[in-house]
Amino acid sequence: MSRAIDVPDRSLVVLVGAAGAGKSTFAAEHFLPTQILSSDHYRGLVSDDENDQGATDDAFEILHSVAEKRLSRGLLTVVDATNVHKHARQGLLRLARRHHVLAVAIVLDLPETVCVRRSTDRPDRSIRAGVVRRQHKDLQRSLKPLREEGFHKVHVLRDESEVNSARVRLNPLHNDRRHETGPFDVIGDVHGCRQELETLLSELGYHLNRDSSGRAVDAHHPDERRALLLGDLVDRGPDTPGVLRLAMGMADSGHALVITGNHEDKLVRALRGHNVRVSHGLAESLAQLDEAGEGFRQRVLDFCAELPVHYVLDHGNLVVAHAGLPERYHGRASRRVRVFALYGDTTGETDEYGLPIRYPWAREYRGKAVVVYGHTPTPEPEWENRTLCLDTGCVFGGKLTALRYPEHEIVSVPALRVWSEPARFPGAAAPGTNTARPTREEQ
Ligand code: GTP
Ligand code: MG
Repeated sequence: MSRAIDVPDRSLVVLVGAAGAGKSTFAAEHFLPTQILSSDHYRGLVSDDENDQGATDDAFEILHSVAEKRLSRGLLTVVDATNVHKHARQGLLRLARRHHVLAVAIVLDLPETVCVRRSTDRPDRSIRAGVVRRQHKDLQRSLKPLREEGFHKVHVLRDESEVNSARVRLNPLHNDRRHETGPFDVIGDVHGCRQELETLLSELGYHLNRDSSGRAVDAHHPDERRALLLGDLVDRGPDTPGVLRLAMGMADSGHALVITGNHEDKLVRALRGHNVRVSHGLAESLAQLDEAGEGFRQRVLDFCAELPVHYVLDHGNLVVAHAGLPERYHGRASRRVRVFALYGDTTGETDEYGLPIRYPWAREYRGKAVVVYGHTPTPEPEWENRTLCLDTGCVFGGKLTALRYPEHEIVSVPALRVWSEPARFPGAAAPGTNTARPTREEQ
């Protein structure tokens, strides 16, 4: 039986094990030579002697800088060093975080006797048995805490047969849908406006499928187009369950792709019983979902909790994220990427209304992909560089808007009424004004 070791194809793989554990052998078997950065190799490069421990600092300096260059290109990178000490692993985890890639640890926890025998037997190594034993002990002490250090996954191989039967499986990240070329109908923030969503889908040429009670449970397009929902399906509007029922049905049948918005993110936390501030329409959603029954609530939680924060589509030519995404985060995965995709980049400062001042990422966007997003209500969708915001404030009485991709045609339907007043500021409020923007508390 072979054992699969799943590794995201854009990640930093950190090998961990005492000398003689078989790290270099494992690396050579499962990865390309250019993917492997070995501390011994760099020690050799800077000192002509792979065993020269005095060259360690210089060797790691170069190893880190090569890793840095590779990760900035999003290339799989494998670090072949003992990494039995926390500070060594932390330096690598920082590197992964800085480049918004996941870090995976593959631990070769072979018996001490095996490591000692193998390293002392080697003619090309001058490592003492005592050193190997100490590394082995350090590793044992590391094993438990290792899981909490920030690795996306920790794989531990305990003996020769486990090592020999291991098979590394490289997987694309969930956000990597470059092979999906559309055509798509990208739809902005729905916020519980089920009727407008149904009208917009019909306008776009979709046929709605209804259950025996007349509720829309799916929609399909005769030309195999797919809807791409930009998040914030929920809250504020009259029928959050109805919107979710349709979106989930379309996602299940492959007729739609859905990403999460900040409102789904918060809804998930609320449904899990976490302590969140129930504001900005969340109370109405929770009440509506209570009415829809426990089974439906659970289905909503499972669905929303699994939604990605962004997709890279059409050979990298289209990126969707609820609050937009600068190019350096496309196809990456980290907490920072998540926060940006959900909430946009706030500078931490607030304006005279106490609303967050945003970093104008779209104004500075020079990327190759078209980025389509929602989140910030605007009266008309307007291209800025290659970015387009499709949130036209339907729930605030604006309209619900779609972009036909790749045609780049805009299709909108007007809101049936003002479903929610952007009530924070007296006298404020047509869609598109600053007041409709989410505030810091929403984060
Ligand atoms: P350092 O670079 O010193 O930290 O060790 P390492 O963990 O990279 O171990 P390496 O892959 O160099 O293996 C150490 C020795 O064990 C080498 O002589 C390998 O040929 C041998 N070796 C590695 N894996 C196996 C194995 O599965 N079986 C056997 N019999 N020998 C192995
Ligand atoms: Mg080695």
